Amino acid sequence: MNKRFYITTAIDYVNGQPHLGHAYEKIIADVIARARRSMGQEVFFLTGLDEHGQKVQRAAQAEKKNPQEYCDALAADWLAFAKKLELTNDDFVRTTDPRHKEFVQAILSKLNDAGHFYKATYMGFYSAKEETFLTEKDRLPDGKFDASYGDVVELKEDNYYFKLGAQQQWLIDYIEANPDFITPTYRRNEVLGFLKNNTLEDLCISRPLARLNWGIPIPFDPNFVTYVWFDALVNYISIAAAHGDETILSALGNSKFKTQNSKLDLWPADIHVIGKDILKFHAVYWPVMLKAMGLPLPKQILVHGWWQKDGAKISKSTGNVVDPIAVINEWGLDAFRFYVLRELDIGPDGNWTDAGFRSRYQAELANGLGNLVNRSLSMLKRYRNGIVPAKSNELSADAAKAADETRALFKQSQLQSALQSIWGLVNRANQYVDQTAPFKLAKDPAQAQRLDEVLYNLAEACRVLAVLLWPFLPETATKIYAQLGLTGSPDKLDAATWGGLPPGQVIGEPAPLFPRKEV
Ligand code: ME8
Ligand code: MG
Repeated sequence: MNKRFYITTAIDYVNGQPHLGHAYEKIIADVIARARRSMGQEVFFLTGLDEHGQKVQRAAQAEKKNPQEYCDALAADWLAFAKKLELTNDDFVRTTDPRHKEFVQAILSKLNDAGHFYKATYMGFYSAKEETFLTEKDRLPDGKFDASYGDVVELKEDNYYFKLGAQQQWLIDYIEANPDFITPTYRRNEVLGFLKNNTLEDLCISRPLARLNWGIPIPFDPNFVTYVWFDALVNYISIAAAHGDETILSALGNSKFKTQNSKLDLWPADIHVIGKDILKFHAVYWPVMLKAMGLPLPKQILVHGWWQKDGAKISKSTGNVVDPIAVINEWGLDAFRFYVLRELDIGPDGNWTDAGFRSRYQAELANGLGNLVNRSLSMLKRYRNGIVPAKSNELSADAAKAADETRALFKQSQLQSALQSIWGLVNRANQYVDQTAPFKLAKDPAQAQRLDEVLYNLAEACRVLAVLLWPFLPETATKIYAQLGLTGSPDKLDAATWGGLPPGQVIGEPAPLFPRKEV
């Protein structure tokens, strides 16, 4: 059986409704998953929810609900959100799933038996908001802790610790030997800088029941639950194990573990898509956990930046938010998917402005792609009764260039550059309409053959564009195929080869793809 291309996203805390940042990350992963499928690979795309821990317990308390009921109600909204974004995820993990909880407990027992944990008394500061222990080093020059930590309390308590101390050097060597492991490069350098300039402290993997009970019980000590990050990171392998991944099941060495009647080969993951704020968990703790379990590391951690709105932090309390559902309802899903990936490369931070969104909609979608497809097909309808003329290759080199570049960029998950390359073909084809002026050719019977050539090139360019765009704009690509009268779906990149549109084909009904909007 073939190893699948296994791509994951961060699993979101269910302490509120999804926002622009969550949508962005899931769309990145979805486009990569679709692009890989389009290139003929078998893919497994996992996303889901992080339901345990203090953040969620507190949010539930604030609504006077028990945490499980609170999570169940919100999970329905998040699942609906994944549908709204038309994510092609193959599974959706909730960390309260029994399949996940059982796996976390099995791994904890195994690591404990192998001597990776010890129990010790902690004295120091703790931020409930960020679920992290703080030390004197974390104080600001004025002696306070950063406001992002919320209320910081002093604690003295017993906990279980995972030995990290001895792990530093192999991880540095690994990151240095594998330049693509953490992408983009400046994030990789950040991790290397951290590892080289700090001594790793042992990781606290438990929380005493007295302080937090919303977590997975530690199997070897009923007075503790599992630290939420140890629980959450494990989702990437618990779900693979549930689907029968042999690499993980044999590392677990527990033949009693139930699987879902499937035998997929998933691990190691090909890409973990995450935001910059959770890099340390994924690039430091997670590799160390995997090594202790005897498992290979993921091939890549792909780190995206954070969105702001109008130059300020997105924040519910100040009302500075972008509601993805409202944008999608007003402008369409594809316009939203397009904007977030075209505006922001995977890496730097981005800034959402409503004016910027409208301007890209108008210029690139309505006037660029939409106008090209609409006028090409309308002229074919008007001048040739919608019947595709004989083949002609005038734009074939331009189309081949866009297809080759797109394929290469897909392999590197360079989504913004791929869109730029595809728009190179959109612009070239629009320019071709202006240069060849088919509306003038149509007036001169002596130019009939020339008009045939132009109309074929335009219709075929539209078809190639549908194929290249499918991972990004699945609805639009499917509409272009339908307007061309083609059955089937533009979901295989090999179909971007020039000449796929058969002469004699009768096209469907042209209709605007991106209606112009009054502002
Ligand atoms: O961190 N722009 O969950 P989370 C872009 N449960 N991305 C953003 C963003 C923004 N403004 N705000 C958040 C968690 N994100 C953990 C993850 S993974 C094993 C556990 C991204 O709901 C953020 O960077 O706080 C992260 O990748 C994801 O949304 C979930 O954030
Ligand atoms: Mg495997």
